[in-house]
Amino acid sequence: MIGTGYVGLVSGTCFADIGHTVYCVDNNNDKIKKLNYGETPIYEPGLDELIKVNTRAKRLFFTSNLSEAVNKSNIIFICVGTPSKKNSKSVDLTYVLKAAKEIAKISKNRKIIVTKSTVPVGTGDLLEKKFKNKKKFDVISNPEFLREGDAIRDFRYPDRIIIGSNTVNSFKTMKNLYLPLINKGAKFFTTNRRGAELIKYASNAFLATKITFINEIANLCEKTGINIEDISLGMGSDTRIGSRFLRAGPAYGGSCFPKDTKGLIYIADKEKIELSIVKSVIKSNHNRKSLLLKRIDKILGKNLKNKKIAFLGVTFKPNTDDMRDAVSLYMIPNLHKKKAIISYYDPTGEKKEFSKLKNCFFYSDINDALKDTDLIILHTEWDEFKSLDFKTLRKKKNFIIYDLRNLYNVNQMKMNKIKYFSIGRPPTN
Ligand code: UGA
Repeated sequence: MIGTGYVGLVSGTCFADIGHTVYCVDNNNDKIKKLNYGETPIYEPGLDELIKVNTRAKRLFFTSNLSEAVNKSNIIFICVGTPSKKNSKSVDLTYVLKAAKEIAKISKNRKIIVTKSTVPVGTGDLLEKKFKNKKKFDVISNPEFLREGDAIRDFRYPDRIIIGSNTVNSFKTMKNLYLPLINKGAKFFTTNRRGAELIKYASNAFLATKITFINEIANLCEKTGINIEDISLGMGSDTRIGSRFLRAGPAYGGSCFPKDTKGLIYIADKEKIELSIVKSVIKSNHNRKSLLLKRIDKILGKNLKNKKIAFLGVTFKPNTDDMRDAVSLYMIPNLHKKKAIISYYDPTGEKKEFSKLKNCFFYSDINDALKDTDLIILHTEWDEFKSLDFKTLRKKKNFIIYDLRNLYNVNQMKMNKIKYFSIGRPPTN
């Protein structure tokens, strides 16, 4: 596994856990050192333990020695980052190309090279062409569909395993690799290389569309006194629609949907194909963030000077410490600009992203973060927020709750006489 970021580390560890011998390589020596000391660089439930078990069993190794790892392996996964280029929709393939070049230089015999990183359609072709004269590569696309926070379960029980290859032999090798999962019922699906590359983008864009759709319907619910949860349930019960990814919320975030929707537009633009739906999704998701700020103006009044606002959770979703494209990155600086005083608590600790804001304070204790607050914004639906005792808290000072994840029960809030707003559901008064 080349790259011990989220994709490489989780997939590598899980491959070791189903019995393979795995070398996880990274050019960041410090990271490798820490991994070898048993320190996990990312927060992912269950990963620490799985790394320990598999390193102890001598199936999982961390190294900076690319040559050793490559030459001891039959299959090489490229799992390096493919970020969006700055101020552009295009995908930066620098790290992928660099990794492939190095592998080509040092590998002594024929290898299967797999792109697991999300790469634009045609990247496999590009890699093959670039290193054609070396004749050592069989380039395959095997996109990953792991969700942060649920990654280990998603690896063990995948909805599908997709292998895109232009040669038949590689399918067999890849099927063998995944056999322990296939034997347990995982669907193994083969297509050509470009097909697999596009399935990944199309899947993420479709899920982003589903979320954006329900978020817009939630806006309509707010105006018409309808409960969005009834709509999600009513729609989702139709098996053609499905209930997952129909939870209305603040706006989608994370390291994938924002980047991959833009990436898909970039791919289509190059082919002069108009993906108007995906374009609208990107725009709607962006607009949603300012919509939330307008709603706060309505809740607290336009003058936010010295108003105390507490955030519960700031990561883009629960069970991760990932801040990439979290909605809080938009909301907190904007509320701060309006001179509000921000406090926040997050189970994964303080975030460097807010360290430059003068009136933004992290508290390692929830009660301290909520003390004297005017407005509590439930930003990330961590389990530990589910049973907070707002009734007792309210005795000290009255506050309003704005629940961006519909975590709490409206009737319960009504009973506790708490002024409560959420997404697409009628407020308490
Ligand atoms: C996503 C995909 O779900 C994975 O299948 C894919 O492998 C991954 O991207 C990737 O491309 O690597 P992830 O970004 O970890 O996974 O997180 P999701 O659980 O998909 O959530 C993405 C965003 O949508 C979050 O901001 C989440 O809060 C939001 N969301 C999700 C909703 O607002 N409503 C929902 O019903 C579901």
